[in-house]
Amino acid sequence: MFYNEVKVGWDQVFGEVKVSPKAPKLTKKVWSSNVKSPYVPDVKPNYVFRFTTGIRKLVSYLETGAGQKPWIFGPHGSGKTSLPNQLAALLGMEIRSEYVSENTEALDLLGQWMPNEAGGLKYEEGLVVQAMRTGQWVIINEFDLMEAREQKRLNELFEENSVTLPSGERVKAASGFRLMVTANTNGTGDMTGNYSNVSAGDSSVGDRFFFVELDYISRDEEKTLLTKQSDLILQGYCNDAADYKKYLGIVDKFINEPILNFASDTRLSHNKARMGDDSGLPAAISTRSVLEWQRQAVDDLFWIDSSNELIKEVENCMISSLEHSFIMGQRPDLQQTLIQMFNDRSGGIYKLF
Ligand SMILES: Nc1ncnc2c1ncn2[C@@H]1O[C@H](COP(=O)(O)OP(=O)(O)OP(=O)(O)O)[C@@H](O)[C@H]1O
Ligand SMILES: [Mg+2]
Repeated sequence: MFYNEVKVGWDQVFGEVKVSPKAPKLTKKVWSSNVKSPYVPDVKPNYVFRFTTGIRKLVSYLETGAGQKPWIFGPHGSGKTSLPNQLAALLGMEIRSEYVSENTEALDLLGQWMPNEAGGLKYEEGLVVQAMRTGQWVIINEFDLMEAREQKRLNELFEENSVTLPSGERVKAASGFRLMVTANTNGTGDMTGNYSNVSAGDSSVGDRFFFVELDYISRDEEKTLLTKQSDLILQGYCNDAADYKKYLGIVDKFINEPILNFASDTRLSHNKARMGDDSGLPAAISTRSVLEWQRQAVDDLFWIDSSNELIKEVENCMISSLEHSFIMGQRPDLQQTLIQMFNDRSGGIYKLF
């Protein structure tokens, strides 16, 4: 063993939180730095943890392994994959990620036959089986894309932490093994038309999970992320304090604020669509794209021809970075609506200058 197990309070992960004094503390593996497993992710210092009931239940499962497995669902880029990874990072746990699609069969998750040197075939176990043998955590991503028939073939895994390999060998998971699935929907179908190939699954599959819904982080939390990112970029480009201050004022007002406004507008609208309201947008901008939009916009200020007035540059940088980070990746019939939404909302801000 290259790690020690210690117990840590919930506040060491989530900051100030109220949990019962009887709540078990969380197990953390402290690795010797030179032999840290490559499956323990790196901690992202700016990651925002929220302490919702769903997330508390997810953490309880990860600590004890008791009960049903978590089905984590929510819109694109809302943290379904990064949350379990960041929990693993903070707790020093090894985590493996599997991605499935509409073509994935249950057997594919266990392993595959590969040619060997003797000209025959040998069975190579997949990462789920490797994780079961070694007691690692596993996330199966995009689980709602998998055919319901194939999902059901994994019931032995979901209910008993065991699988039967094609050889007939039955593998029981080691004690640290944990399994989570993530998906854009809760498995009952997609109301938005945005997640292609998702169909309503079989209710007997959903019956074997408990559900954790994630949503985008709040405006204030996202603002903190943006402020930290722009600060780092500006420090890289600005030579002195006065220069930094000049750009910081511009970035806060003409980049960060309009980005946060556009993000909340698209998300409010998309939430309507998720509830089945046709007037809502089929897509919202994710935290991932928000960060990329801001990174490009701030960076562009220092890369493009700066013969224009700075404020004119900001406007150009914002629009072109929005297009490259988000709009161009959307359905063609939506692109104009999204640009229009941005112009309508931010026009006022630019005119203030
Ligand atoms: N709580 C958060 N704190 C900080 N950054 C976040 C947070 N949630 C999401 N992000 C950012 O958004 C990115 C996307 O998150 P993640 O990949 O977890 O989303 P997802 O829900 O799995 O998306 P998809 O539906 O595309 O699989 C992360 O890499 C991170 O940069
Ligand atoms: Mg994901």
